[in-house]
Amino acid sequence: MRQPSPDWIAAAVKATAHGHRDDATWLGSQRERSDDLGFGWIYFALARASNAERVLVQGTGRGFSAACLALAIEHRPDAMVTILDPGFSEWIVDGERTDQAAGLWTDQEQVRRHFAPLGLTNIALLRAQSDQGYARLKARDEPFDIILIDGDHGYEQCLKDVRNAVSLLRPGGLIVLHDAVCPDWPGVALAIDMMQAEDDTLQRVVLPIYPGVCILQKSDAGANDRVPLDAPAFALSELVEQRLSRGRSLTQLRSELAEKDDTIARLQDELRTSLYQRWTRPVRRMMARIGRMGRFHRRVS
Ligand SMILES: C[S@@+](CC[C@H](N)C(=O)[O-])C[C@H]1O[C@@H](n2cnc3c(N)ncnc32)[C@H](O)[C@@H]1O
Repeated sequence: MRQPSPDWIAAAVKATAHGHRDDATWLGSQRERSDDLGFGWIYFALARASNAERVLVQGTGRGFSAACLALAIEHRPDAMVTILDPGFSEWIVDGERTDQAAGLWTDQEQVRRHFAPLGLTNIALLRAQSDQGYARLKARDEPFDIILIDGDHGYEQCLKDVRNAVSLLRPGGLIVLHDAVCPDWPGVALAIDMMQAEDDTLQRVVLPIYPGVCILQKSDAGANDRVPLDAPAFALSELVEQRLSRGRSLTQLRSELAEKDDTIARLQDELRTSLYQRWTRPVRRMMARIGRMGRFHRRVS
């Protein structure tokens, strides 16, 4: 099983690092430098330690995070990293700022050539903008173990991306977001807050090492643990206010829900008992008659 060796790290950083180096630290946007993977260690460790098999990288730049994840899972015969990226060289964030990337990812052959020097053959391209790409992935109905999001950092697009990612994640799976505490891109942190407010079964860990990595884990508990909220499309502060103005805390909402569940379970039991009483005896009588008819038929024939 391969590990990130010094040679592999140097080659990976050269071929795949994205963005400018920070003048103060000489580290790249993934805290990498030519002798160190930076956040790449986190991506590698999460995929290796969780024994991931299906990994999605949405927003790929020049492929740094995809390469670290692909190395971590390459020893598993069927394991694949899918990269979902439209290959933008420029795009507008939240309708105002422009962001840039290398504009790669034309087709699968280009992806193969790009990662070949790193010995990686387990990366597949889905060339699409995230909304369209997620829609196609949903139609395949094959949940992912890890989804790394590092695409459009605007609030609205990032929230849509995280919602889509949650719906494509297997229970217990992980979403990893880059730039989770980055003042340049506050939309990411806000989208994470909003997502967790919508679905408080998502466990969240934020590593506040600039520019931040957030890990969300989808609970594998049942739907009954969820607090239903009317799909909020408004700001987090309004959501919090609305909850407070109703005068019910999350704990209260949960206990109300638990009471409803008890009632549903009791009604289901009553229904089962009454169906049993209503149908079992007539069905048994009918079976006995069929049995008797069978024996009679065998005797006379
Ligand atoms: C910051 S780079 C990603 C860096 C990368 N994660 C790495 O490890 O180096 C952003 C990428 O997001 C892509 N992107 C921008 N908007 C997107 C969208 N709506 N859907 C999918 N990808 C998007 C761009 O094409 C670009 O490749």
